[in-house]
Amino acid sequence: MRKIDLANLPTRIEKLSFEYNDINVYLKRDDQTGFELSGNKVRKLEYSLQEALDLGCDTIITCGGIQSNHARATAIAAVKLGLKVHLVLKENETPRQGNYFINQFVGAKIHLISNEIYQDRHNYMKTLKDRIDMTNKAYIIPEGASNGIGNFGYLNCFYEIQKQEDELGILFDYIVMAYGSGSTYAGLLMGAKALGSETQIVGYNIYNPNIDAFNMVKTLIEESKVYRDVPEIKEEDVHVSPEYVGLGYAKSCQDELDFIKNFARKEGVMLDTVYTGKAMFGLILDIEQGKYPAGCNILFIHTGGQFGNFSKTELFDF
Ligand SMILES: Cc1ncc(COP(=O)(O)O)c(C=O)c1O
Repeated sequence: MRKIDLANLPTRIEKLSFEYNDINVYLKRDDQTGFELSGNKVRKLEYSLQEALDLGCDTIITCGGIQSNHARATAIAAVKLGLKVHLVLKENETPRQGNYFINQFVGAKIHLISNEIYQDRHNYMKTLKDRIDMTNKAYIIPEGASNGIGNFGYLNCFYEIQKQEDELGILFDYIVMAYGSGSTYAGLLMGAKALGSETQIVGYNIYNPNIDAFNMVKTLIEESKVYRDVPEIKEEDVHVSPEYVGLGYAKSCQDELDFIKNFARKEGVMLDTVYTGKAMFGLILDIEQGKYPAGCNILFIHTGGQFGNFSKTELFDF
């Protein structure tokens, strides 16, 4: 699969100081795929935007919450590639800082819509595309760049991790990450299955505990069939914990906030409140409750999102 080169790869792997039961926890710093253009979305955009260019498109349309990391990464990537960009964002009470500020900084065309209209975002984006197509050519990227083409970002990341395992002389028993729109997980699982790896891919759902993760991942992987053969996914391959969504998507409880603050003070790493903070909080609690075997090696993918923290500084008490 052809892709544009946007991310700083390979991303670094570093070991946490955290110790429990001889378990080693490593971080893969996908929050450092760049700066403005950073986080897990960059790997997916390398493929989606290649497709957009191959189709001769000059305008990108995508959507997300007002603090969407994906929308911000798309806005930056589009600027770098000389494309116009429209962001369809769900209005809420969050201050216009963090990711939103960066979108404004780079001049993205922002469509702020109500929660109600956002439910029909696919039609909203389709209507926008029809209008743009009268004079230009638009390409729609779905929420989180989670679709058949977006999956390739983390399929490629799985190969990158295997190479790093050889270089570091470590075999990861688990690869763990926050699970949102699903294609970070789906891409890694595609990689693990395609290479017959024993590594278990574990997602921590931060979005909605009631989703059917197996069918979601299976459907996403099947969407990649138009591009290449895909492995068959069975129910026992998909491990997504619904236990740490907490108060709900993008809502933080005090325990999570304290955890994120203390993690930064102990490890020198900033997690975000919406994705990586919840996922790491869940992982550490699960380790301490004995859900991971003694002596195993865990690779946690830090998928980024820290700009979102700057819209929530008042939540932290220092
Ligand atoms: C920082 C961050 N981490 C994790 C995720 C979840 O990735 P995915 O949507 O591929 O499940 C997202 C998605 O929005 C994100 O912005």
